[in-house]
Amino acid sequence: MKPVESMFLSLLHGMDPEKAHDLSVRTLARGLGPGLPPPDDPALAVELWGRRFNNPIGLAAGYDKNALVPDACLRMGFGFVEVGGITPLPQPGNERPRLFRLPEDGAIINRMGLNNEGMIVAYDRLSRRPRWQDRGLVAANLAMNADTPIEHAADDYATLAAVLGPHCDLLVLNLSSPNTQGLRRLQEPDLLRGVIRRVRAAMPTRVTTPLLAKISPDLTDAEMEAIARIAVEADNPLDGLVCVNTTTTRPDSLKSPAREAPGGLSGAPLKARALEVLHFMAARLFGRVPIVSVGGIATAQDVLERLRAGASLVQLYSALSYTGPRLIPTLKADLLALMREQGIASVSDAIGADLRAAAA
Ligand SMILES: Cc1cc2nc3c(=O)[nH]c(=O)nc-3n(C[C@H](O)[C@H](O)[C@H](O)COP(=O)(O)O)c2cc1C
Repeated sequence: MKPVESMFLSLLHGMDPEKAHDLSVRTLARGLGPGLPPPDDPALAVELWGRRFNNPIGLAAGYDKNALVPDACLRMGFGFVEVGGITPLPQPGNERPRLFRLPEDGAIINRMGLNNEGMIVAYDRLSRRPRWQDRGLVAANLAMNADTPIEHAADDYATLAAVLGPHCDLLVLNLSSPNTQGLRRLQEPDLLRGVIRRVRAAMPTRVTTPLLAKISPDLTDAEMEAIARIAVEADNPLDGLVCVNTTTTRPDSLKSPAREAPGGLSGAPLKARALEVLHFMAARLFGRVPIVSVGGIATAQDVLERLRAGASLVQLYSALSYTGPRLIPTLKADLLALMREQGIASVSDAIGADLRAAAA
């Protein structure tokens, strides 16, 4: 790591976590982020939904909440960046403090409560940016406003999709943030069908932005089973699933003093459950509905494990906040080396390799 980068990272780690986050976003917004990265090795590419991802590693939702710096994030080397969560109207989120580091556990707890400047600000930024798809793709994470009654939630998602759908490459219905009352109920079958139906009806027909749903790691098997069925229903299909959001559970292994803070836990302690959910969903949906796996990814081994288990793409957030942007080129170089070791020619060949081996 360059000395200036490592000094900046130590500075951020010494600050209040939310102030550090805001400073890092502002620094990128001032153009002080990375320059154009070298092109990715073609072996890392993934073709999905008629789109080309230069590499399968994405930045998960929650870092660039207001779509202020998607291109600077892409220049870190991500194949795609998910901006948001974006709600129709601006909202302040929960009271501070609402973001906690658990360094002993490689984890974060947040109860931000979907603080964001609202859809119009995001629309302004996304619609003005030149869309050089060869430099990476941008997904938008959509969520209902905190004061929207659950029976009107589908309208929020439909409005967001209609406004933002034409200006991004993927839409992700956030049905799983634990810090907005009632939001996770949208994973219940009838409410989920209602949201998908309303969103599909609201999207202009010429807009073919793929529609994904992001689910919680805290679902029961029966709840996941129901979502897997709905994802392939003829009249409510989903183009993909993002598995998973943060968890409200607290593994006994947590050591950090902040472990009792209420909110969603992410990072290393989420890894095992994220993998379990991926196995569950891939067993039912592989080859039919692509899965984006997220939760506790920090190494190239983690990336390859998810790909082999049936994820078409992966995302991360917590590991980036601990390691800094040098993580992404390292992950890609290590992934190429690991694939070579395992005799895998390309990421496309890696996707689902374990499932194919088990079926053979
Ligand atoms: C501070 C913070 C804010 C987040 N905000 C959102 C959000 O707005 N929408 C969402 O779907 N997920 C959000 N997430 C969840 C992440 O996108 C991701 O699903 C989760 O952190 C697990 O990945 P990780 O272990 O690599 O961090 C947030 C996570 C963190 C740490």
